[in-house]
Amino acid sequence: MLSLTVVVLGFVIKGLCLKDLHFPPDFMFGAASSSYQIEGAWNVSDKAEGIWDRFTRVHKDRILDGSNGDVACDSYHLWERDIEMAAELGLHFYRFSISWSRLLPNGFSNYISEDGKKYYNNLIDGLLERGIKPFVSLYHQDMPQKLQDLGGWANPYSSDWFAEYARIAFKLYGDRVKTWITVNEPFIICEAAYGMGFTAPGVIDPEVGVFLCNKHTLLAHAKAYRIYDAEFRHMYNGELSVSNQPFWYFPYSEEDANITELLLEYTNGRYTHPIYSKEGGFPPGILQVLKESSEKQGYQRSNLPQLTKNEIELIKGTYDFFAVNYYTSRLVRKAEPGENLGPWPMQDAPVLNAKLIMDPKWKLGESYWFAVYPEGLRRQLQWLSNKYGALKFIVTENGYPDKPGFHDINRIMYYKQHLEQILLAIKEDGINVTGYTAWTMMDNFEWSEGYQAKFGLYDVDFSSPKRTRTPKASAHYYSSIIRAHSLDV
Ligand code: NOJ
Repeated sequence: MLSLTVVVLGFVIKGLCLKDLHFPPDFMFGAASSSYQIEGAWNVSDKAEGIWDRFTRVHKDRILDGSNGDVACDSYHLWERDIEMAAELGLHFYRFSISWSRLLPNGFSNYISEDGKKYYNNLIDGLLERGIKPFVSLYHQDMPQKLQDLGGWANPYSSDWFAEYARIAFKLYGDRVKTWITVNEPFIICEAAYGMGFTAPGVIDPEVGVFLCNKHTLLAHAKAYRIYDAEFRHMYNGELSVSNQPFWYFPYSEEDANITELLLEYTNGRYTHPIYSKEGGFPPGILQVLKESSEKQGYQRSNLPQLTKNEIELIKGTYDFFAVNYYTSRLVRKAEPGENLGPWPMQDAPVLNAKLIMDPKWKLGESYWFAVYPEGLRRQLQWLSNKYGALKFIVTENGYPDKPGFHDINRIMYYKQHLEQILLAIKEDGINVTGYTAWTMMDNFEWSEGYQAKFGLYDVDFSSPKRTRTPKASAHYYSSIIRAHSLDV
């Protein structure tokens, strides 16, 4: 079956307009995961409660299958098998995240868990022994509940708590970890967890919480970056960034061009303009949109808290590369008068009075928000390059929720089509994309969709305490691309 799959794909790939399907020699391939989604062992040793431990208990009804990550893939115990899988795939790097509450059970730097420290040391050393680079995210939706009880990302001190945690991680692991993501998808954290409440901590506060989170995650990232610059870069010479952004938007008709651009600024720009633009700060168009929408609600000032001059300077330029997570796209059109708008961000965009549409021609995925539009990845890279100049890009996540089973042909097509777009971006547009990360190495706890959405290259048998991992067809396909360093496989 596998060889047939490869023959069929080989045939399809010949149709691509690029003659040379090789990736540049330094291009790196990886796969990603995150602590809460895979580790389990939620209360072993001195690990403290995290926001997802709490959320999955208190808001079980907000998880599609009522499940949780108490055991998940049990990577806390099976880390050696995880390393073996990364080696089987031939990965150049493995992107995983540190659980803040496993490393610092108090949330603060006054106490470092020996057990937590050792777990990540083992993982990092084990990867390096197999020649695989550890690529570490510090925050992937996983805050100690203790800090959440103090307001989490809504608390102005959250950026200092995070910076302290980052300093400890740099100190412990910076000699071996050379690529860091500070915060994974702050936009999703803020909109979903503080605005709509469908992810942990489940705060429903689209007027205030969501914007406090916006500002404080930016500051958290920037402070961690500045600490690395001042204290660690001269010794370790690593690279840091923050990862953004799952949706690409494009206009339904010519008339919708302006509203689409504003929407891109609203989602991307609120998190990227302060970091990557020359002038820094929030995008001016969005300051205006939010001022008007707040005034419409009868408020004197915008819901979006201002950045001071110092904060603008602090945040500006805090990147060594641009980390793109890309999954899906939407068409954007202005809503008709009286037309119903679904909830933001998964359905529509009421703040801009915009309908977000999945083109009926697009293939869907086994996840309610998923439709396949590979060109969206290239368009996004172009948009970012046009706005912010010649950046170095790493695609830090890209993946497809397929039906359960081992013959995941749709996922294979998805990877092929998105990698084609990357080759086009590199070869036709001259964009410097230096790496690609498949989401995800193995099926895992997919947040509010529990174990129902399966994004993995490896299947995990969640019915067995052994959590046996088995490669799917996509794992063989991906590893053959990595080994050939080319899409011509
Ligand atoms: C992006 C997130 O970083 C990851 O945690 C999630 O599982 C994937 N999107 C798929 O939804």
